[in-house]
Amino acid sequence: RATMSSPSFVGAIDQGTTSTRFLIFNTSGEVVALHQLEFKQYYPQPGWHEHDPEEIISSVETCIDGAVEAFEKQGHSRSQIASVGITNQRETTIVWDKTTGKALHNAIVWTDTRSQELVRRLKNRLGASELTARCGLPLSTYPSVSKLLWLLENDDNVKAAYERGDLAFGTVDAWLAYKLNGGTARNVYVSDPSNASRTMFMNLETLDYDHDLIDWFRIDREKVLLPKIVRSSDPEAYGSLANTLLKGVKITGCLGDQSAALVGQKGFTPGLAKNTYGTGCFLLYNVGPKPVISKNGLLSTVAFDFGPGKTMYALEGSIAVAGSSIKFLVNNLGFIEDSTRLSALAETVEDNGGVTFVTAFSGLFAPYWIDDARGTLFGITAYTQRGHIARATLEATCFQTKAILSSMAKDSGQALTELAVDGGMSNSDLIMQTQSDLIGIPVIRPAMRETTALGAAIAAGLAVGVWENFDDLKGVNTEGRTTFKPAITAEDADSRFARWEKAVQMSKGWAN
Ligand code: G3P
Repeated sequence: RATMSSPSFVGAIDQGTTSTRFLIFNTSGEVVALHQLEFKQYYPQPGWHEHDPEEIISSVETCIDGAVEAFEKQGHSRSQIASVGITNQRETTIVWDKTTGKALHNAIVWTDTRSQELVRRLKNRLGASELTARCGLPLSTYPSVSKLLWLLENDDNVKAAYERGDLAFGTVDAWLAYKLNGGTARNVYVSDPSNASRTMFMNLETLDYDHDLIDWFRIDREKVLLPKIVRSSDPEAYGSLANTLLKGVKITGCLGDQSAALVGQKGFTPGLAKNTYGTGCFLLYNVGPKPVISKNGLLSTVAFDFGPGKTMYALEGSIAVAGSSIKFLVNNLGFIEDSTRLSALAETVEDNGGVTFVTAFSGLFAPYWIDDARGTLFGITAYTQRGHIARATLEATCFQTKAILSSMAKDSGQALTELAVDGGMSNSDLIMQTQSDLIGIPVIRPAMRETTALGAAIAAGLAVGVWENFDDLKGVNTEGRTTFKPAITAEDADSRFARWEKAVQMSKGWAN
């Protein structure tokens, strides 16, 4: 336990889809210092989405230094930072040469649909229908495996490294741990189960690689290095920072961002759920110490692995497009100057005026899994104003969340009684009220909404005794919650939802 003289702060690297942040928390879970950077998004072709792996690392290092400087300006010292946790965008795939430590291609981002044709072929291969029971994910463009296979088929440098046996594969957490430790100099090559469970290579029961799965994808294990899967909270496995003002400080926690948000909301026990409205939107429902394989279009995933007796699984509803649809209205269509104004624009009209926007920019994820759907606007007339489109854009995520909750009720046999929320779009009262109206249960928003970073800090802090156990976290992030209660009838919600479902069916097949 932290005392006055011992280190009593924990750092969190939050490497998301559009921005990188570094936050420093105190033991009460309050943010003491923060630095954030947006980084470049590459869209080389329709449906393609890439990041520069080197920029990911430099953005992390800049954020660490920025936050530490702000922290020390307040009179603290960097020596008070006990350790650092990592949380990251999941599935995004990076390949590098294990002898040089250099990336061989831009990172292929989780939203990228270039592997659509390849996935179609895989779905026809004998045994395709048996994969989900082992790894929890359905075959789609979303998991890392489809991105890695695309690279192996289409990029000569990647193919050559594979043939030489020099190819290293990693999700963003593995790349961060490797590079932040100094790359080839230290060779820290690890990933945690919440990230590894997004590749389709990991067996959900054993929390280790499944050779049958890897063979099924016709990947030669001798030719590609996969990071060792270690616990999400571990005092040694993740090494320490080789550079920055925190040089020498240990990395002791690692969680995929959606798992981290569940931990930051303290969803430690079965039955608790959270919905994070970030670039995409992801609902995770803690199902307990055994995985539940969905029959209704949800994913089964590792929530966190904090050691024996403290490993939990989740059912997940993944929505590919949430905050990114707002960015689209701002950056591509010039609707408004910045995203924070969208909610205000939506409030200039009373309702969506008959407009429905299926924001299927990356196909549709849960619970539909329609790879070839594309974004489609329905119901435009001469009456339609920008406000109606803004409103329809915000509603899309709320409708998809409703569809996910109904799958979740079927899979788990019980309906959720309230939903904890966080992420950028949760700042909008209008969106949260709409969400509560549509799902018919209270939506609870914490005052401190940096839950993703807090989850990484908790994973890191638990490993080094900043907090000894979940009980120690009782007082963390509990103050000042806002509750949104449903204000429309269930019939009204259902009839709005029926129009959405009709629109979803009509958005199918456009990519063909
Ligand atoms: O699975 C992708 C997810 O981890 C990305 O999260 O916060 O960037 O929408 P976010």
